[in-house]
Amino acid sequence: MKSEKVEEGKPLIEVKGLRIAFGDAVPVRNISFSVPPHGRVAIVGESGCGKSLTALSLFKDHPEVRIAYIFQNPMESLNPVMKIGAQIHETRKGLSREEIVDLLRRTGLEDPERVYGSYPCRLSGGQCQRAMIAMALAAKPELLVADEPTTALDVTTQREVLELIDSLAAETGMAVLLITHNLGLVAGRMDFVNVMYAGEIVESGPVQEVLAHPRHPYTQGLLKAVPALDAPMDAPLADIPGTVPPPDAWPSGCAFHPRCPFATDVCSREAPPTKWCGEVRFACHHGD
Ligand SMILES: Nc1ncnc2c1ncn2[C@@H]1O[C@H](COP(=O)(O)OP(=O)(O)OP(=O)(O)O)[C@@H](O)[C@H]1O
Ligand code: SF4
Ligand SMILES: [Mg+2]
Repeated sequence: MKSEKVEEGKPLIEVKGLRIAFGDAVPVRNISFSVPPHGRVAIVGESGCGKSLTALSLFKDHPEVRIAYIFQNPMESLNPVMKIGAQIHETRKGLSREEIVDLLRRTGLEDPERVYGSYPCRLSGGQCQRAMIAMALAAKPELLVADEPTTALDVTTQREVLELIDSLAAETGMAVLLITHNLGLVAGRMDFVNVMYAGEIVESGPVQEVLAHPRHPYTQGLLKAVPALDAPMDAPLADIPGTVPPPDAWPSGCAFHPRCPFATDVCSREAPPTKWCGEVRFACHHGD
């Protein structure tokens, strides 16, 4: 399925030099990336790197694109005093009960009729996540943003939900922007990855190349730290000491220098140059 608005070769989403500031805090600095029609793109980085702010800006900056957003915590995103079916009706008026039950069924819910008539508190975390996905699909999106869609879920459900998003994307032709802490989740699932640190993209490229040969020390650390699939998603990263600084105090030069095992004097003084290696782009004073 292809949108009539999409011209051949033109990205569905193109972000150029995005900057978001709140007073002295600049949590997003000079971000550029694109999502092709039907593309599968990831943004990966630790908590506080600016991933969600970047993704949320797409609504404002791309009003012409139908975007559905699956939020981090389905229990907080669903309306607790409205039954699931009614919430999906609100998303797209004109859908019949049968069509909504069918959407719920397509997300793998075993008892879609019951879910249709249930309040969120009567459902498990996994069922709520599937209901959120059904609600997103009801909007017939050209782009589905899945912002850490697995955080609240157990391990088996995590994998199932990501597989579900994959198969629904293949079925409907929608593009997917996956936002996650876990570089391991993008392997085999996404085509292109943007690694974000301190409000900037520090490395980007085709997933296979970046995973096989990560060039930026932050990407290398994230890859080593790929949590075992049963570790808590917000656990500290064993291979990268320290945490992401707050956005009103980004370090000088390369913002990663206080945590980088390869940092030299120049790293704290000067912003690193952007380097290209085939389709991979990274920003570091060292390494090729
Ligand atoms: N409205 C706001 N005013 C000031 N600072 C904000 C605002 N919204 C977000 N921030 C800050 O911007 C930074 C980036 O936030 P963002 O939610 O984009 O991070 P994230 O990468 O999605 O993190 P997580 O993985 O925890 O969801 C954080 O330090 C956050 O506290
Ligand atoms: S520029 Fe320096 S501090 Fe930054 S990632 Fe490269 S080596 Fe590390
Ligand atoms: Mg976030």
